[in-house]
Amino acid sequence: MHNKAILVTGGAGYIGSHVVRQLGEAGYRKIFVLDNLSKGFREAVLHGQLVVGDTGDSDLVSRLIREHRIEAVLHFAAYTVVPESVSDPLKYYGNNTCNTRNLLACCAANGVKYFIFSSTAAVYGIPAITPVDEQTPTDPINAYGTSKLMSEWMLRDLGAASAMRYVVLRYFNVAGCDPQARIGQSTPQATLLIKVATETAVGKRDHVAIFGTDYPTKDGTGVRDYIHVEDLADAHLKALDYLAAGGTSTTLNCGYGHGYSVREVLDAVARADGKPFKIVAHPRRAGDPPELVAQCSRITQVLGWKPRYDNLDLIVQHALAWEKKLIKKLGYGG
Ligand code: UD1
Repeated sequence: MHNKAILVTGGAGYIGSHVVRQLGEAGYRKIFVLDNLSKGFREAVLHGQLVVGDTGDSDLVSRLIREHRIEAVLHFAAYTVVPESVSDPLKYYGNNTCNTRNLLACCAANGVKYFIFSSTAAVYGIPAITPVDEQTPTDPINAYGTSKLMSEWMLRDLGAASAMRYVVLRYFNVAGCDPQARIGQSTPQATLLIKVATETAVGKRDHVAIFGTDYPTKDGTGVRDYIHVEDLADAHLKALDYLAAGGTSTTLNCGYGHGYSVREVLDAVARADGKPFKIVAHPRRAGDPPELVAQCSRITQVLGWKPRYDNLDLIVQHALAWEKKLIKKLGYGG
């Protein structure tokens, strides 16, 4: 597969840039990154060729696929802020759903063989039982989750109607960054817990709000399955190998199978930083499930994926190292 040309949409963003880096390190020589730089950073693309453009631009996408004989597409480009998707749903359906439809049409018309799609645990909504396996009914409760689920359905139907094979990866809570802090998470106005907590630890924010202390969980705060972005990126490389070896289309959860509470995460960040920071209890945030943890045995079986960073302390240490780099203006964004 290393000689095959690969198109990575959103490859200048947080998760996409980690995958591009791993592809480059693994010896892939024909990596093409398509990113409109609305959220991504040019400096985050450490390998391959960056094309600044949009997945909604059919002429550009089709030309890229044809000219470079793209065989596999890894599709990360999307908006990902859940509260924003609730207040501005059409923005999410436009970029996440309509543009994915456009990208798929270009792939179908130009014979792309393999497609790897960044989906989300948000497709499960508020599941009755956790851990959730891939058979758990999908029932998203926000436009972000719905926009991704609609893309999963398009992929399912296109997969049935054509020779294209795909892997849908449903991410749980992605965190951490490149252990060498060459690239990291620079999303502006971040709402994700570990990003918010590390920004607070370095003094960019006054405090962290805990959204809900009365959940039926171990300490009353929300529980999530935090997966290191390095392990998640590795799952994409394994998914490419799997498809190239003839694997059938499939949908896989990406998590570690165990959860940490908000308080446990905040304790880990304070431990990594060596000092406490201000925490304020707030009411529950609308639409937050009490607990969301992956049943993740399928990805291990199907892809032979083995996590290397299943350690909350390591995840927050890496996230904090990047945040400290940003504060010293040694990284991009921030
Ligand atoms: C959500 C989506 C997930 C998506 C992610 C990225 C759902 C169920 N999950 O994750 O699929 O990939 O957003 O947009 O929609 N918290 C605080 N204080 C904060 C921030 C968060 O207490 O300042 C708490 C939340 O209430 C939650 C946990 O921390 O219990 C994690 O929240 P967050 O990092 O925002 O991610 P999710 O909402 O779980």
